[in-house]
Order: sequence, then structure tokens, then C-alpha cells
Amino acid sequence: MCGILEQKEWTFSEVKLVKRMKLITCLVALSLMLVLLVGCAAPPAAPPTTETPPPQEQPKQEVNALVFYHWWTSASEAASINALIGVFTSKYPDTAVMPAPVVGGAGYSMLGLIKPLVLAGEAPDAFQMHAGYEAKPYYDAGLLEPIDSLWKSEGLEAVIPKVVQDMCKFDGNYYAVPVNVHRVNVIWYNKKLLDDNNINPASLTTWDAFFAACDKLKAAGVEYPIQLGESWTQAHTFEQILASEGIDFYQDLVNGKITSASDPKLVAALETFKKYLTYVNPDYEGLGWDAATKRIISGESAFNVMGDWANGEFKLVGMVYGKDYGTIGVPGTQDMYGLCIDTFQHPKGVAHPTNSERWLGVVASKDGQDAFNPKKGSIAARSDADLTKYDDYQKAAITDFKTLPNMFPSIVHGSGAPNDFKAKLNEVVPAFVKDKDVSKAASALAAAAQASASQFTTVWSLE
Ligand code: GAL
Repeated sequence: MCGILEQKEWTFSEVKLVKRMKLITCLVALSLMLVLLVGCAAPPAAPPTTETPPPQEQPKQEVNALVFYHWWTSASEAASINALIGVFTSKYPDTAVMPAPVVGGAGYSMLGLIKPLVLAGEAPDAFQMHAGYEAKPYYDAGLLEPIDSLWKSEGLEAVIPKVVQDMCKFDGNYYAVPVNVHRVNVIWYNKKLLDDNNINPASLTTWDAFFAACDKLKAAGVEYPIQLGESWTQAHTFEQILASEGIDFYQDLVNGKITSASDPKLVAALETFKKYLTYVNPDYEGLGWDAATKRIISGESAFNVMGDWANGEFKLVGMVYGKDYGTIGVPGTQDMYGLCIDTFQHPKGVAHPTNSERWLGVVASKDGQDAFNPKKGSIAARSDADLTKYDDYQKAAITDFKTLPNMFPSIVHGSGAPNDFKAKLNEVVPAFVKDKDVSKAASALAAAAQASASQFTTVWSLE
């Protein structure tokens, strides 16, 4: 690479300029070298010698390595990615696999770190990313290879449902392969705690019923019936409460149409969240999703709204679904399936293009998905998964995914709305958790939708 790029936050619109500057810098450097070569007086011809000339430097061999970034660092996530790597290594034993895990749930740390790398032309061979909007800036800046040929050679269209296919495409071409489908609108509960307090989880179908159960737990001495974690998990929870206002409302939200601070459903969702916050632990700051889940596992609290990556943590400690823990749909969203889809893609100009392609093949494969997802808690993105490998929660999720009428894309997990809107949601919600100011939050969210109006380019049809 010619020249060293400054340490600064590069924007996608700057990348083309950066590339041009790098080219110009290279040309200038080459010219200088030529001038120097011509300028240096040629040494007098060396007398003929019989000595053996020094060995010529051989051209460098491409190292057989695979470098990829991901954010799966909780205990169950690490077990899952290791299982996937195991499938890759059994197929390609000579390749050195170099995963780069970056701590931080939902990718908020990793995605911030990867962006300057990719923009500086230093993309790893692949990196974890959510399907949909999250990848759009990379696509817009021409930094991703189309991978239609891989989708074709692996026969993916026959086994990946249309809703997932569409989220892996831009302008009709594929740019990502999915490894799973996570469900986001789930409440996890500690079964013993509910049983001991005569709470029937199946009856918690409305927010009123759910809050009444929380009151009952409180009266019985459970100080904080619900666990709440760090900022993105707060936004995650609020997203599900937004969804509980109905699929029409959520569709308007992801289509950028909730632009009024007095929208009754937006206000109602904030009021519900305000009430919800009266039951949560006060030490949510910096509390990871897995730490919050551990407090449900231990029985310290009864409930936690979280995506079904939480399932991986329950399983890892030997808890059995239906016996030790269970789930209910977030009230009001029982017939909805909130989608969070993890993908990998092929960035342009990577060091090991063949291995990038091979990794994507394994990520998309039945063997790969059936090794990864049973540990991860999610279901496979493929419809031909080997059901014997999945637990009862996952079997029920597979049925729900096939049969429920309404899918909805998560905003917090990168798919549903433009990145600027997602970023704003992640600012507004933690502020609301502290000040509980409904009209301030409603105004900020409505203003965020207005400010990002031109970026809502996907027209979602969720009904
Ligand atoms: C989601 C991701 C899941 C899980 C979770 C917590 O965004 O897609 O695979 O890792 O974050 O980190």
C-alpha cells in the first residue's frame, strides 16, 4: 500500500476520494523513484567475475489463511463459532483459520472497528454483519463483491426462504450469505420462579397480565422481576414494545412513516416501556445481555426480553427448555416473528479470495448451519435443517417461522431501518431509560425518521 492513511473516522463518501489519492500518491512515488534511478550516476561496468551470483528473491506465495471478524464472544456464542470453524477445518485442513473476535453484543463495537479497515482497503476475508440495511453503505461504496454465483453453485435459493433471500440482496444481486435466523421478540423466564409463585406463563399474553405477574413477584420478595442490560439491549426491548403496537404500526415505522411526535401508538409504546422500567434492576449500565441472562438462570429475576441467542446460554449450563426455563412471545407480538439474521459477505480486494469464498460456502452449508445453530439458540436459515440436532425451543421456533403470518425485521439488529435511524434509536432509548420523558423521546424519534427520510429505501410489506 502506498502512503499511510491518517487515523480518522472515514465516511463512505470519502472512500472513492481516498482511493484516488492513493493512486496519485503511488504514481508520484513511482515517478520519484524513476527520477532517482536516472539521476544516479551509473556505476562503471563491473569486471567479469566467476563468483556465483546471490540467489534471486522468489515471488511471495499467497499464504493459505482465512481471516474473519465476528462478535460472538459470550460462552455459547464462542462454542457456536468454534463449531462452525470445525466444519471449515474438516473440509480445508491446510488452511490457517484466524478468527478475530471483538467483544460487544449485537456488533456495536465490531462494526465501528471494521468500517475504517474496510474503507482503507484492509478488509478481512469476511466479517459478520446483519442482513439488510447494515451492509448498504458498503454496497453503495462498491466495497462488496456480488456472490450470485455462490448462491447458484450451492443451490441456496431452493433452501433459503424468500424473506431471507431478499434481505441478502441489493438491486437484485446477492451480497451476503445467512448463517441463521434469530427471533427477537421473545421473553425468557425462569420456570421455577414462576411455578413457585403460581404464575402461568401461557396467560401472559397482554402487557397488563405481564405487569400483574411482575407485581405478584415483587410482592413475594423478587425485588426486580425483570432484568435489563446495557444500552443496545434497552433499545432491543423497546423495539419489541414498538412491535407490540401491531404489524401495521411497525411497518410504518420501518418505512420511515412515523414522523409525528403525537403518533398515538408511538406514545403508547413509550408509556408501556415507562411502566416496564418500574420492574427492572437499577444496575443495567454496562450489563451485557449474557450477564442479564445469567440472572434469569440463577433465579434472581424472572424475565428478560432478548433474542434467542439467550437460548444458547441456558443450554450451555445444562438447563432444559420446558423444564428449567421457557419463553413467551412479547405480549401483543405472539403472531409475529422478529428477524435478526447474521450473515457473512465477500469484501472486495481481500487477501485470500479463495478462502473467503470457501468460508461463505461453509457458512451457507447444511453441515455448517447444523453445527452452528443448535449451540447458538437460533434456527438455521436453511429449510432443510436436521431437526434431530435442535432442542424443543428451536423446533417450536422452526414451526413458528414457517407458519406465523407476520415477519418483521429488527432495527436494532441492523436490518429494518437505515443506519442513521438505528443510531438515533440507540441514543434516544437509553436517555429515556434515565429520564422517562415520553414527549421528549417521541419528538426525538419522530425527528429522527424525518431526518433520515431519504435513506428509507427499502419498502417493507410485512402483512
Ligand atoms: C445479535 C447477533 C446474534 C447475537 C447477539 C448478541 O445482533 O446477530 O448472533 O450474537 O447479537 O451478541
